[in-house]
Amino acid sequence: MFISFEGLDGCGKTTQINLLAEKLASLAYDVVFIREPGGTVISERIRDILLDTKHQGMNQITELLLFSAARAQLVNEVIKPALAESKMVLCDRYVDSTTAYQGYGRGLRLGAVKTINAVATLGVMPQLTFIIDLPLEELERRKKRSGANADRMELSGRAFYEQVRQGYLEMAAAEPERFTVINGAQEISETHDRIWAVLSQHLPRQ
Ligand code: TYD
Repeated sequence: MFISFEGLDGCGKTTQINLLAEKLASLAYDVVFIREPGGTVISERIRDILLDTKHQGMNQITELLLFSAARAQLVNEVIKPALAESKMVLCDRYVDSTTAYQGYGRGLRLGAVKTINAVATLGVMPQLTFIIDLPLEELERRKKRSGANADRMELSGRAFYEQVRQGYLEMAAAEPERFTVINGAQEISETHDRIWAVLSQHLPRQ
C-alpha cells in the first residue's frame, strides 16, 4: 500500500510519518519510508541541486523537471519494487508537491505539470494522501522558534506559500477519495489519531 504526506514546509508531516511508521512496524507491517526529493543516490544528488541557496537563478521549468527527474528514479528504483513485494510505502511528499509548488505556487500551467507528473510517476499513485494543513502565520512562528536555515525553496516568500496552500486545498476538494486534510494545529497525538482513524479503514489484512 502506498501512502503519501503533503503540506507546507514545517507543517509537522515528518513527525507524523515517524509516528505512523512506528505504529505500523509494531503491527508487523513491512514499512518503507521515503522522502522527496531524494531516496536514491541519484535523487539525493538532484535534491542538493534543487535546495542549494546558491542556485537563485534556477529557471522554473528546470525546477519542475529536476523534481520530476528525482521522482522518476525513485519510482523505478524503490517505490515500484517495494509495492511489488506488498510493502507499506510511506512517502514524505510525492507528485502532489509538484502540482502544489510548481503548478499553483510558481504558476506553471497545470495541464503541462499534469503531463510531466504522469511521465515521472509511471502512473504509480498513492491510495491515500494526507495533507497536514496549517495557516502560514503558525508555520512562520514555528520556523522562527526552530532557528533552522532556509533552503532555496523556503526563500520563495509568503505569497508563494499562500498559493501552494490554496493549491493543496483545491486538489483535496477535487479528489476527496484519496485526500484527507488534517488540521496540523492540534496536538501531535491528536493529529496522529486522526490519521490512524482514516488509515486503519484501508489497511490490508496481515
Ligand atoms: P524538504 O527539506 O524535504 O522540506 P519538507 O521537510 O518541508 O518536506 O525540502 C523539500 C522542498 O522542496 C520543500 O520546500 C517542498 C519542495 N518541493 C517542490 O517544490 N516540489 C516537489 O515536487 C517536491 C517533492 C518538493
